[in-house]
Amino acid sequence: MSKPIIATIDIGSSAVKGIVCQKLEDKDQYQVLAHCILKSEGIRRGAVIDSQKTAEVIERIKSRLEALSRSRIKNVLVNIGGHHIFVKPVKGAVAISRADQKVSQEDIERVQDEAKALSLPLNKEVLNIYPKEYIIDEERGIKNPLGLQGIKLEMEGIVTCVFSPYLKNLKDAVLSADLNIIDVLPSPLADAYALLTSQQKELGVALIDIGAGTTSMAVFEEGQLIHLAVFPVGSSNISNDVAIALKTEIDIAEKIKKEFGKLIFSKANRKEKLKLDSGEVFVFSTREFSKAARARIEQIFDHIKKELKKINKYGKLPAGVVLTGGGSRIPGLVDYAKRELSLPVRLGKLNKFIGPRLDERFSVACGLAVVGLEEEGEGEGIFSKISQVFHKILEIIKP
Ligand SMILES: Nc1ncnc2c1ncn2[C@@H]1O[C@H](COP(=O)(O)OP(=O)(O)OP(=O)(O)O)[C@@H](O)[C@H]1O
Ligand SMILES: [Mg+2]
Repeated sequence: MSKPIIATIDIGSSAVKGIVCQKLEDKDQYQVLAHCILKSEGIRRGAVIDSQKTAEVIERIKSRLEALSRSRIKNVLVNIGGHHIFVKPVKGAVAISRADQKVSQEDIERVQDEAKALSLPLNKEVLNIYPKEYIIDEERGIKNPLGLQGIKLEMEGIVTCVFSPYLKNLKDAVLSADLNIIDVLPSPLADAYALLTSQQKELGVALIDIGAGTTSMAVFEEGQLIHLAVFPVGSSNISNDVAIALKTEIDIAEKIKKEFGKLIFSKANRKEKLKLDSGEVFVFSTREFSKAARARIEQIFDHIKKELKKINKYGKLPAGVVLTGGGSRIPGLVDYAKRELSLPVRLGKLNKFIGPRLDERFSVACGLAVVGLEEEGEGEGIFSKISQVFHKILEIIKP
């Protein structure tokens, strides 16, 4: 039997990224067979607002990936982004149904369904459930209750919820590109699969993805997801602010941000020159540039700080923070984050992925591939059941 192959698509505010990936036998490594990144359309701050436009980009990504990997792609895992995503703590309780009083898979599904049945506004829905612990007859802290004996099974955990119209737009976009959806995961959760170790998740860690239109965060402790948040601000805001401060166009500001990023955290106060495609030279004050960029970075980290304080984890995550997303590439950001968050901070590395070197922008697509290629429930049981439709997956047909 040939090794399973998976295709994934990260629908981001600034770019749509796709990869085709295969697990290497007997190794915790993945071979990237194809990758592709295209400018996104129809997406605002992580949410699909024009599914037709987004579908066209997805179609192009699909064709490129098919050509590069010489495969026909029928199914994909995709992410969902946007400030509309939120989490809620949930609880469920059921009677253990079997005559021998051993917890069955069906009992676990029933207790999860019960926990998911929370009252939400009509236009919001539960995306996924992440059990924190199971309780059998008051005995707490059970990670996997299957086969254990008792009378009453309870579960505590969190659910991720989304604004239904945005989820529908996302699904419409993917389906219009003639692809089936295997699963949908919030971006920072997908990142976590690619970048975090089980030890980090056990100790306590926050994954922070600084994208173009959003910054998103997933926090883990004792191996479980304990919090997730998305802020409607990202690296494109830095470019917009720089454009205003330097009285120039967004494209020029974007170039300055990328080429002169090392000045953002420096005290340099001089004139710098950017050579434009037209051959002209744009002269700007490094102080004006760094002041505008830093103010926005401060705002992003204020959001993160507040959120960590809200869940009582500010300065209290032993494995610290792992940064990813295109916005994490600003030189000096890691040191700035360490100071601001009072935590160890590092950049996430896609070490498990072999082939073309993929940068931070691909971590969501890579994480989705890990989800797709690993068996349901395998690993440390960190995530809940990945998907009801999981068994039907991975159908990439060789022409
Ligand atoms: N070297 C760099 N320095 C600073 N910013 C950078 C650099 N390279 C890329 N970026 C920024 O990263 C952003 C793109 O990152 P990414 O692809 O992770 O975002 P996205 O997934 O499209 O957005 P989101 O996750 O918010 O929906 C852009 O705003 C871009 O300006
Ligand atoms: Mg992103």
